[in-house]
Amino acid sequence: MKTTEIRIIVYEYQSIHELSDNDQNLLQEARRITASAYAPYSGFNVGAAVLLENGKVITGNNQENSAYPSGLCAERVALFYANANYPEASVKAIAISAAKSGILVNEPVKPCGSCRQALAEAEVRFNTPIRIILDGQDAILVLQGVESLLPLSFSKKDL
Ligand code: THU
Repeated sequence: MKTTEIRIIVYEYQSIHELSDNDQNLLQEARRITASAYAPYSGFNVGAAVLLENGKVITGNNQENSAYPSGLCAERVALFYANANYPEASVKAIAISAAKSGILVNEPVKPCGSCRQALAEAEVRFNTPIRIILDGQDAILVLQGVESLLPLSFSKKDL
């Protein structure tokens, strides 16, 4: 039997002002778009901002439905729009923010499993790591790739 240790590096910041100008801008966009989320059932407004290699920033937010599973998370709304409209542009980074009653959540927001899988697909598709910025009042977490969110992931390499 062999044991392998998988290390995950999490960069933690206390304030948005500690981030680079580009990351600050991306996170501000994610924060801004939380306001127009359609989340009447959960009251949990999520915003995502995707930075593409062509410099474009694509935003999205969660879209809920009375038939609950028919809704979609903010991350995938933004990512799928980006991939649909700029299929040649690799995804460089995504910032994710969340608010309850208009107030930024305390704990950094973490993407659900399906969004992690969708982000993993974008990394493999464009063969480039995606920087991930997770927003919260207590801390802002930055990860250097989806491997840090979804180690041992399934991908087309497994097919
Ligand atoms: N949600 C997201 O949009 N992204 C996440 O990473 C976690 C959850 C949404 C789905 C649902 O509309 C609401 O938050 C509560 O789960």
